[in-house]
Amino acid sequence: MKTIDTLGDLRGRRVLVRSDFNVPLDGTTITDDGRIRAALPTLERLSDAGARVVVMAHLGRPKGAPDEKYSLAPVAARLGELLGQDVALATDLVGDSARATVDALGDGQVALLENVRFDARETSKVDAERAELAGELAELADAFVSDGFGVVHRKQASVYDVAQILPSGAGDLVLKEVESLSRATTDPERPYAVVLGGSKVSDKLGVIANLLTKADRLLIGGGMVFTFLAAQGHSVGASLLEEDQVDTVRGHLAEAEKNGVEIVLPTDIVAADSFAADSPHTTVAADAIPDGKIGLDIGPESGRLFAAKLADARTIAWNGPMGVFEFEAFAGGTRAVAQGIVEATAAGAFSIVGGGDSAAAVRILGFDEDGFSHISTGGGASLELLEGKELPGLTVLAD
Ligand code: 3PG
Ligand code: MG
Repeated sequence: MKTIDTLGDLRGRRVLVRSDFNVPLDGTTITDDGRIRAALPTLERLSDAGARVVVMAHLGRPKGAPDEKYSLAPVAARLGELLGQDVALATDLVGDSARATVDALGDGQVALLENVRFDARETSKVDAERAELAGELAELADAFVSDGFGVVHRKQASVYDVAQILPSGAGDLVLKEVESLSRATTDPERPYAVVLGGSKVSDKLGVIANLLTKADRLLIGGGMVFTFLAAQGHSVGASLLEEDQVDTVRGHLAEAEKNGVEIVLPTDIVAADSFAADSPHTTVAADAIPDGKIGLDIGPESGRLFAAKLADARTIAWNGPMGVFEFEAFAGGTRAVAQGIVEATAAGAFSIVGGGDSAAAVRILGFDEDGFSHISTGGGASLELLEGKELPGLTVLAD
C-alpha cells in the first residue's frame, strides 16, 4: 500500500486528509471522541512535516444538502483542543469558503472542510458525479492521505475517487487498523473466538458465513441473538426479531455444527417490560422469554459463560454490544464480555474490538483502552475486513 512516506517532502504542500469523524453527538456535545483522538497521529505528523493540512470528513447521513444538525462545528472545536491549535472550519466543501480557508493556511496548520455529505455527489452511485466532486476537491490540494478507516469500505468521492486523481497514500491509522485486523483474518492464533452483537443480524450474515469457516467459537449476543433463539425454536416474546432471517440463521447453525465451529448462545436474558432505562425487568431463561417481554441484555449466567469461552482464546474479535449498554440496567452483558476480553488479553490473547458501538461501549463503561490489543475505529469497515471482502478505499491505495 502507498503510504505518507511515498508522498515525499510535504513542507508547504497542501495535503487533503480524509478522516472519519463520525462521532456520537448529543445535540452538539460529542459523547465519545475516540475517532477524533485516533486521527491525531496522522494529523500531527503531517503538521510537524510542515504540510498545510486540509481535513475532510462526514458526520451522520445528511441527505446530500447542508443540514445544520450535521455540521462539523463541534468536531472542529474538539479537534482544535486536542491538537492545541485553532482549526478553522470552512462553511462549505469545495466553494468560496473552502478555497479561502485553504489559502489562509500556513505551514503546519490544520483546517476542516464542512461535512462532505452536504454534497450529493459524495455518495452518488454515478461514477461521473463522484469524479466531478473529486476533481473539485483535488484542486484544493497537492496530495491526498486516506486515514478515515471507518469509511474505507465506501466507494465515495472523498475516499475512493479523489485517490485516483492526487498522489495518495494511506495514513497511519489506516495502516495500523489493516495490520491489526489482518492478524485475525490471516492465520489467527487459535483458539480464535469471535463475539458478535448489535441489533441487526442481517448486517452480520456475511461475516457470520465467513467466520463459520475461520473461527473456532462464535459467541452471539445483542439484539441479533433473538433471531438465533427463534431459529432454535424458542419464542422470544416482544424482543427484536428478524423473521425473514430465521431460516438463514438455521442454516448457519447447521453449517457450524458440520464445520465443528462452536456457537455459544446466552442461557439467560434480561427481559424488560419496555425499551426504557427505568423499565421493570427480570432475568429469565433464554428458552423461556415470557410473551410481551423484551430482551434487552444477556443475563449474568451468560456473561460468565461468555467470559469462560474467551478465557483460553488466543485471538479474539468483538463487534457489537451484548445489550442496550447505554442504559445501566442492561449494560451487564457488554461489561462481562469486555472484562472477559481484558482478562484474556492480559493472559496473552490478541484482541480486537471493532464496531463504533462496541468501541464506544468500552470507553463509556470505563474500561482502560490499553486492556485491549486494538480498538478499531471502524464499524462496517472492520466487519467487511473480517468478512474477507476487498474494500475500495484500500484497493485504490495499492501500489
Ligand atoms: C461509521 O460510522 O461506521 C462510519 O463513519 C461510516 O459511516 P456510514 O455507515 O454512514 O457510511
Ligand atoms: Mg455506522
